[in-house]
Amino acid sequence: MPGQPLSFSLKGQVALVTGAAGALGRLACETFAQAGADIVLVGRHIDSLRAQADRLAAMGVRVLSVAADVTRSESVQAMVDQAISHFGRIDIVLNNAGTSSPKSLQELSDDDWHRIMDTSATGSFFVARAVAPSMIQAGYGRIISMGSILAVRGMAHRVAYSAAKAAVANLTRALAFELGPHGITVNALGPTVIVTDLNREMVLKQPELYDAVLKRTPIGRLGQPQDIAGPLLFLASPAAAFVTGQVLFVDGGYTAG
Ligand SMILES: NC(=O)c1ccc[n+]([C@@H]2O[C@H](COP(=O)([O-])OP(=O)(O)OC[C@H]3O[C@@H](n4cnc5c(N)ncnc54)[C@H](OP(=O)(O)O)[C@@H]3O)[C@@H](O)[C@H]2O)c1
Repeated sequence: MPGQPLSFSLKGQVALVTGAAGALGRLACETFAQAGADIVLVGRHIDSLRAQADRLAAMGVRVLSVAADVTRSESVQAMVDQAISHFGRIDIVLNNAGTSSPKSLQELSDDDWHRIMDTSATGSFFVARAVAPSMIQAGYGRIISMGSILAVRGMAHRVAYSAAKAAVANLTRALAFELGPHGITVNALGPTVIVTDLNREMVLKQPELYDAVLKRTPIGRLGQPQDIAGPLLFLASPAAAFVTGQVLFVDGGYTAG
């Protein structure tokens, strides 16, 4: 609004992060906490969230850890209910849980396909559906999902992952229309290869695939977790009120080519 100061502060807000124990999940939680938000950590194993919860609490924010499997709607609903009953609100959601498998088409099993699609695409849908009522009631919300450059580019040995991330991108656009009238923005981040536990083994096993990404990246390097922080905070913040239905590529320019 004209005259209103630009705000990237999340003070007084509650941010929920799925896949919170993973590399980018940890980075996201720390980014939101640094901006002042209280944090709901979500993962399948509560033990894996403990160290992260202690670190965030030491930053002076309130923290709740909840075990949930994003591929199961009743688990997601119970997790969101617990978060709302604890904090009274959820302002920001990051659908970060995701998984991959570096297999060829012939090697990819039914289970691989369903696990990859269900974690990124179906999980993002389940979480958005579960948090929407409280955000609609509040007239405010920020829903962000982890997409990928593979939402808009293909790659061998990433068939299910590419399909899942394309689904996340268009889920984002459709939700933007549905939730925009309620003051809720819905966006995705589209990172390039960011070397983390998800892909470290794949980077080592298939250097030729990653070299091909590197050659087409104007900035001339793959990503680091810290590259996500600024774009994520922007989308989560009050400053991004007029940005919705977008995939913000964080890719050193890869998708510009
Ligand atoms: N790293 C990259 O290069 C890159 C690039 C583009 C996009 N991304 C996306 O960024 C997100 C995070 O990636 P990352 O590199 O940080 O991977 P990561 O370290 O493997 O973290 C993924 C997290 O997802 C959680 N998870 C998996 N299945 C789950 C389920 N069914 N329910 C709840 N949580 C589940 C895992 O936790 P538990 O196993 O403990 O439950 C883990 O903490 C993913 O969506 C990924 O696709 C990553």
